Amino acid sequence: MREPVIAPSILSADFARLGEETEAVLSAGADWVHFDVMDNHYVPNLTVGPMVCEALRKHGVTAPIDVHLMVKPVDRIISDFAAAGASNISFHPEASEHPHRSIQMIHDAGCTAGLVLNPGTPLHWLDWLIKDLDLVLLMSVNPGFGGQKFIPEVLDKIRDVRQRIEDSGRDIGLQVDGGVKVDNIGRIAAAGADIFVAGSAIFGAEDYASVIRAMHDQISEARAK
Ligand code: DX5
Ligand code: ZN
Repeated sequence: MREPVIAPSILSADFARLGEETEAVLSAGADWVHFDVMDNHYVPNLTVGPMVCEALRKHGVTAPIDVHLMVKPVDRIISDFAAAGASNISFHPEASEHPHRSIQMIHDAGCTAGLVLNPGTPLHWLDWLIKDLDLVLLMSVNPGFGGQKFIPEVLDKIRDVRQRIEDSGRDIGLQVDGGVKVDNIGRIAAAGADIFVAGSAIFGAEDYASVIRAMHDQISEARAK
């Protein structure tokens, strides 16, 4: 399995100080920046677009920027995010008319591609798409807001996707997003996830580094079992 990746969601950062907050979380040990894009259409909330992604790059952020698109339609915005400095772009299949084409567009734009499955979205989407994916993101809350409670049934889904990834023989990241905290990250890791998104658990804490360290400790403990 890959080295674990901690990807703080900037949704829970202080937006008035986004550059500083992003730097702070990266120097506290975070690996990726998880960038939640909401359109008040696919999800009932509105956040940030490519200009803000570009602003973070201009501010000096060099870490991977992991763009989680919660927008419909998907395709038109892909090249804008690639030009704005996105590293990975993930989208929800229900939000795209042609998910395979969206994946091709993400690759053609020079980014890695992820598919995001909501708690109620079946895994059959992976049947014909997994061979083209770099990452599978399982939502452990319904998308739209930070600070929601982890849905425990997703643990079985993580195990199922881990098996599909092993069967594919490809190096595909398995990411979990929603309600991830120090007290459940061990179970999430044991189920087979290797990329962990956490918003409120990190940005809601006084000391980002101690939360990230505690998360890594829990993951190592779970993997050692
Ligand atoms: C929800 C977003 C998540 C969210 C996670 O739609 O995709 O990335 O910010 O926040 P927490 O960790 O607070 O559940
Ligand atoms: Zn997200």
